[in-house]
Amino acid sequence: MKFSPTEEQQAVLTTAREFATNEVLPKAAEIDREHRHPAELVKRMAELGFLGIAVPEQFGGAGLDHVSYALAMEEVSRACASTGVIMSVNNSLVCDPINRFGTEDQKREWLTPLASGKLLGCFALSEPEAGSDAAAQKTVAERVGDKWVINGTKNWITNGPVADVCVLFTMNDKAAGHKGITAFILPMKAKGVRTGPPDDKLGIRGSKSSQIYLDDVRLSDAHLLGQVGGGFKVAMSTLDGGRIGIAAQAVGIARAALEDALAYAQQRRTFGKPIAQHQAIQFKLADMATEVDAARLLTLRAAYLKDQKQPYGKEAAMAKLYASDIANKAAREAIQIFGGNGYVTEFPVERHFRDAKITEIYEGTSEIQRIVIAGHLAKGG
Ligand code: CAA
Repeated sequence: MKFSPTEEQQAVLTTAREFATNEVLPKAAEIDREHRHPAELVKRMAELGFLGIAVPEQFGGAGLDHVSYALAMEEVSRACASTGVIMSVNNSLVCDPINRFGTEDQKREWLTPLASGKLLGCFALSEPEAGSDAAAQKTVAERVGDKWVINGTKNWITNGPVADVCVLFTMNDKAAGHKGITAFILPMKAKGVRTGPPDDKLGIRGSKSSQIYLDDVRLSDAHLLGQVGGGFKVAMSTLDGGRIGIAAQAVGIARAALEDALAYAQQRRTFGKPIAQHQAIQFKLADMATEVDAARLLTLRAAYLKDQKQPYGKEAAMAKLYASDIANKAAREAIQIFGGNGYVTEFPVERHFRDAKITEIYEGTSEIQRIVIAGHLAKGG
């Protein structure tokens, strides 16, 4: 068992840390304040190979492993959680399923520009009445002649307003339940596709999300992703990998809270000494540091198992469950350490507090992660 990165993973980590520190962090507060999609950072991530890290080079990716992906995600998210989720969705929820389920033609046409960052992707599973209960899809794909005619509404779609391509889930046979769900690769410019106004969110305000309205959208069989009726498995297996990305994002947010709180505690003085010398503060920092490390180890274990082509769904759910929990706790404690300064936007910890919350909700709530973990336990996994 090794606890150190390979040379290649270390190189990714170093590049990601430099990019995050020098280019992302200085803009994070402004991106949040202005609710701004950081297009220039997305472009830079494309240049660095961060938008298709684990995609083979022949399809435009960096050809690296998922451990490298998790390391880079943590670094980018430590600087700006909004930029982190844009990266995560493109890698985990768009490139990954097209890489695993797409035909050679689809990989050439869609994966190559997505992984190299020429196009940006989104993933449309959730609906107004199908969030945690993902099988309750109401978006209908009806076979008419040689086309699929798609009607419905998708909800909370991260990258929706700025995406070029969508991995879309539809119901083609309601009576078949989850076996009636079919996935498509949808060009967002297709006739009948419209996005709603960007959601006005508590946190990750630089990440644009919205509803997507599908009104008699016509797609050919060339747009099917996987088998007709095989969409639920595409979605579930994709979310297993997505949860590694969100766990890494949560570790990044927790680390941001810890590092900012530590720096503040070392210079803020009360009762004649820096507050970092008061045990009440030391205990908080010690717990935060321990939990950040534990969350990172869980995350890297899930990524490692994915790289080894071993089952990793339970481990990814555990990583996301724990990392999202401790990210919220770390951000809360960071505000407490900053005191009044933690409650104002002049300092970054209120942003970490707002950004952390979503990690307990998207790509499966903490309650859903517990269901997934318990399901694996029941099967002896
Ligand atoms: N991989 C492959 N197949 C899987 C699977 C997995 N991880 N999990 C389940 N399946 C298969 C099962 O084997 C079963 O197949 P069979 O019928 O052939 O045996 C089938 O799927 C149905 O499984 P379940 O009975 O367990 O399904 P369920 O309807 O009870 O739902 C659930 C299970 C875990 C609750 C699931 O609905 C779920 O994960 N919900 C949360 C959805 C979610 O994470 N949404 C996030 C939206 S995306 C997002 O947030 C993106 C963003 O903005 C950043």
